[in-house]
Amino acid sequence: MAIENIVILTGAGISAESGLATFRDTGGVWAKYDYREVATPEGFEANPELVHDFYNFRRREAQKVLPNAAHHALAELEEALSQRGGQLTLVTQNVDDLHARAGSQNILQMHGELLKVVCQFCDGVYLWHEDLSPKTQCPTCLKSAGMRPYIVWFGEMPRFMDEIEMAVEEADMFVSIGTSGSVYPAAGLVHQARALGIRTVELNLEPSENAHQFDETDYGQASEIIPKWVNAIIQGL
Ligand code: OAD
Repeated sequence: MAIENIVILTGAGISAESGLATFRDTGGVWAKYDYREVATPEGFEANPELVHDFYNFRRREAQKVLPNAAHHALAELEEALSQRGGQLTLVTQNVDDLHARAGSQNILQMHGELLKVVCQFCDGVYLWHEDLSPKTQCPTCLKSAGMRPYIVWFGEMPRFMDEIEMAVEEADMFVSIGTSGSVYPAAGLVHQARALGIRTVELNLEPSENAHQFDETDYGQASEIIPKWVNAIIQGL
């Protein structure tokens, strides 16, 4: 059967070679920080300065790096599929903007975006490239102390879940790239795909926690294995 619609889930591993730290690898983000302190609503309420410092650092780092060959290959695949009347839905857990900068268009950033902030008083969402602090004023309602990173924290509902589930229902193939498969609901998408009888593929540095759920696997650095896999798919279209 010809492949027309592909859903790809990416995680921190695809941005690792661009220079952004992953979370659970040795020396990763969660080895240095307690996620309860920096990535939960309760942590923000208890110590907003610490949470702002954490995201200010990550926002600055994300703006210093460039997309790598894996991000570019996925943008190329989206273009090739759309030229043939198909579709690539790129679901990412990453909050960096490297997929967009590589040229991908149909991106669902389920865990939010590092380069946006939201005002907890008026719900205004703003593109943001600078540091934030508890003193930062909302550009609209002018209140301070309400500005927070536009990030989905632990205990909050990921964004675009309806769109993601619908995209999986219509997919011919589900591919997981550079994720340890340890955070739900993202990690559960492969179960949904399998239940629908959709072909599942894992491309990662090493087998994830869900590796047994995948029909096909390939392991290695994303910048090597993703362009190779994309070329094979495009040739088969
Ligand atoms: P993890 O740090 O949990 O997993 C990264 C995965 O990428 C691991 O399986 C690595 O083996 C793999 N990896 C590392 N370098 C790679 C490379 N060069 N090429 C290919 N793969 C590589 O990151 P995520 O799975 O993205 O959520 O984590 C999911 C969520 O947990 C994040 O979105 C974040 C975090 O807590 C929130 O903050 C809400």
